Amino acid sequence: MNILVLGSGGREHALVCSLASSPRAERIFVAPGNGGSAPKLVKVELDEMDGAAVVAFAEANEVGLVVIGPEAPLVAGVADAVRAAGMPCFGPGAAGALIEGSKQFSKDLMLKYEIPTAEYAVFDEEAAALAYLARHPAPLVVKANGLAAGKGVTVAETDEEAADAVRACFAGRFGSAGDKVVIEEYLTGPECSLLAFVDGRHMVSMVPAQDHKRALEGDRGPNTGGMGVYSPVPIVSELEQREMIALMQKTVDALISEGIDYRGVLYGGFMLTATGPRVLEYNARFGDPETQVVLPLLESDLVTVMLACSNGELETCSLQWRKGWAVSVVLASAGYPGSYETGKPISGIEAAEALDGVTVFHAGTRRDDNGTVLTNGGRVLNVTALGSSFEAAREQAYRAVDLIDFEGKTYRRDIGERALRGRSAWD
Ligand code: AMP
Ligand code: GLY
Repeated sequence: MNILVLGSGGREHALVCSLASSPRAERIFVAPGNGGSAPKLVKVELDEMDGAAVVAFAEANEVGLVVIGPEAPLVAGVADAVRAAGMPCFGPGAAGALIEGSKQFSKDLMLKYEIPTAEYAVFDEEAAALAYLARHPAPLVVKANGLAAGKGVTVAETDEEAADAVRACFAGRFGSAGDKVVIEEYLTGPECSLLAFVDGRHMVSMVPAQDHKRALEGDRGPNTGGMGVYSPVPIVSELEQREMIALMQKTVDALISEGIDYRGVLYGGFMLTATGPRVLEYNARFGDPETQVVLPLLESDLVTVMLACSNGELETCSLQWRKGWAVSVVLASAGYPGSYETGKPISGIEAAEALDGVTVFHAGTRRDDNGTVLTNGGRVLNVTALGSSFEAAREQAYRAVDLIDFEGKTYRRDIGERALRGRSAWD
């Protein structure tokens, strides 16, 4: 079967690598992709936001499964266009993708179906939001309602910061995504991502993962798309894991009750508070970089699982997971998440991949006419290592990181370090 994957990040390279290992996959088209390679991969130029163009390409190239990686085409309804053409599509339609595309929608859903989350209030004008802040002292969390590429959230330690964040949203810093503002209670605890495959009726959860969102070591500095990740998460208790799975099931049931046919990945971002897990946010897609540790641990055939989700047949699938641990370190360009330079030649990827259990997923890379890999984004590479213990996977990932070089190479040396110290490291 031919498969079309939409997207260009490390998540999509990891998806392509897993799909390529399936005997069921013939050609895997990726639009637009990046500098990463894989068996069966064919890069194509196609506007991922244009549903009609995606359908036309898929029909012309005998594509049997369309996989939508990023949130923007999902929110824009590209999955609806593909399904309307009678093609299996992995990814929710616009109605389901609102769970990520509108914080108000997801918070209202959680309130209605009693899914524990931070207390919140929604505003569509600045004066009312500022008046609310006057009654509710910091710390608070201020969020632009719409999609803002992970930059629309401010964890405000002071009243001043909270007011500045509100003013920035209404001044248009996030475009129309900031037309509404959600102000939330500040929660504390370790964070954990739990992703689930969903087929419209059933869900099967994956292994938990933990991202590192801040740019700097010690979880300081600005929020990023994610600087490193591991899976499973050693500091999550069995009880917490069961509770998170139950909350994901409750969310899928809520979507069904709302008449939404959700097929794809539902991503739950949790805060493990002293009173149990609470949902911070949902995403309508695989996490990036969570995918780069979760999929290498999946033993089951990804093509089969994705087709089962797309066709409403997930009940026929059971997921097998490899024993062991995966740790992934993000190599970024100097300056990320602010401005950075691109076009720097990268060396050492092959040497790194020659190490046992190591895969280097490409994120912001491209190849020049000679095939040389160049930096082409803020997050450049995801260096993933599998190991039989958490420590072994972590050490192997950093061994591989040391072998790769490019001008401005920037990374956190403490990915997984807090987890090694145990749960008390979050107190
Ligand atoms: P979100 O995009 O909603 O997941 O927010 C991005 C990050 O902001 C999360 O991963 C948390 O680190 C932080 N955050 C979001 N909501 C809250 C909250 N209510 N309390 C504390 N931190 C939060
Ligand atoms: N790793 C966070 C996200 O994918 O949104």
